[in-house]
Amino acid sequence: SESLTVAELAKKIYREPSEIIKKLFLLGVMATINQVLDKDAIELIAGEYGVEVEEEIKIDTTDLEVYFTDDSAENLVERPSVVTIMGHVDHGKTTLLDSIRNTKVTEGEAGGITQHIGAYQVVENGKKITFLDTPGHAAFTTMRQRGAKITDITILVVAADDGVMPQTVEAINHAKAAEVPIIVAVNKMDKEAANADRVMQELTEHGLVSEAWGGDTIFVPISAKNGDGIDNLLEMILLVSEVEEYKANPNRKAVGTVIEAQLDKGRGSVATLLVQNGTLKIGDPIVVGHTHGRVRAMVNDKGRRVKEAGPSTPVEITGLSDVPQAGDRFVVFDDEKTARQVGEARSQQALAAHRGEKSIVSLETLFDQL
Ligand code: GTP
Ligand code: MG
Repeated sequence: SESLTVAELAKKIYREPSEIIKKLFLLGVMATINQVLDKDAIELIAGEYGVEVEEEIKIDTTDLEVYFTDDSAENLVERPSVVTIMGHVDHGKTTLLDSIRNTKVTEGEAGGITQHIGAYQVVENGKKITFLDTPGHAAFTTMRQRGAKITDITILVVAADDGVMPQTVEAINHAKAAEVPIIVAVNKMDKEAANADRVMQELTEHGLVSEAWGGDTIFVPISAKNGDGIDNLLEMILLVSEVEEYKANPNRKAVGTVIEAQLDKGRGSVATLLVQNGTLKIGDPIVVGHTHGRVRAMVNDKGRRVKEAGPSTPVEITGLSDVPQAGDRFVVFDDEKTARQVGEARSQQALAAHRGEKSIVSLETLFDQL
C-alpha cells in the first residue's frame, strides 16, 4: 500500500510510535499515532533512520496468471508450436505419439531417453514441434477453466474403421472453446475396414469440413502403426504454425505450466514443466502452483541435463519444496526471498482453502518492504 499509519510505520522500522511522532514534530508535522502518512512522509521518516524505502511491488499471490503478460512486439521471436493429441479411446493417440517420436528422434538422442516424460520435441524441416501427451479430457477441462492455455494446435485422431465417437465430439468442443486450430488425423488407414470418407462426412456435422470438400479443415490420412502419413502430418503442423506465427520472448523470466509432477524417492519433487514464455535457468527462484523453490537440476525430453530451457520447451526440474499439480502455473522471480514469500503465502492459502477457511494472508503481512 502507498500509505501507513504512524503506528504501522513505527512497527516496520522497529521504533516506538512516540519517537516517530517526535521526529514528525521536529519536521513541522503534528501527528497522532493513528495518523495516516503518505508516501513522501514515510520516505522522509525512513530516511531519518537510514532506511531505504523500496517501491512496493504489487504482487498478487492468489493468481499467478498476472505474470503471463504479453511482451511488446519487438521482443518476440518465433517459438515452436505446442501440439496436443486428442481423440476417442483406442483411436491411436499413444501409438501416434510413439510413432512420431520413433521416426523423428535421431539415434544419438535415442540413447539418452531414460524415462517417460509427458512431453517431447521433434525437429521437422529444421523446425521444432513440441508434443504433449494427451492430458486426458478432465485435465484439459480443468486447465481451460483456469485459463491455462498450453496448446497451440490440436491433432484430432479419428480411427478410420470406427468413425466419430463421443470423445471425438468432446475433443472438438474442447478445441473450439479454447480457440485452438484442429488438424484431423484419420488413423488406422492400414485397416481393411478403413473409411476416410465416412470420417469426413461425420465430422462435417461438427463443423469440420475438409479442404477437399471446400472447407478449411486439414485432414491427413495416417497409419500410426506403420508410420504412413506421419511426415505429411508434421508438415501440416508446420504449415499451421507458419500461418499462426507463434511467438515468445526468450529474454525474460520464465512462466509456464506443469505438465505432470510426482514425488521421487531419490530426487524429491520432480515436475515436468512447459516453458511458455521466457527462459528457465538453473538456480532460478520459482513458484510453482502452491509450492516454491530453486531450479536445482533440469533434464530435457531426451533425458539430458540442460542449463536452460526457452519458450515451448518441456523440461523436468527438481528443487521444489512440494509436489505441484498438472495444470499449475509456474513463475520465476527476481530473487529467492520474493519467490519464498509468494510460495509460502500460496501454500498457506491452499491450506486455508483446504480447511474451508478464508485466507488470512494479506499483502501487509507478506511484504515488510520498509
Ligand atoms: P487410449 O489411451 O486408451 O485412449 O487409447 P489411444 O487412443 O492411445 O490408442 P492406442 O494408441 O493405445 O491404440 C489402441 C489400439 O489401436 C492399439 O492396439 C494399437 O496398436 C492400435 N492402433 C493404433 N494405431 C493404429 C493404426 O494406425 N493401425 C492399426 N491397425 N492399429 C492401430
Ligand atoms: Mg493412449
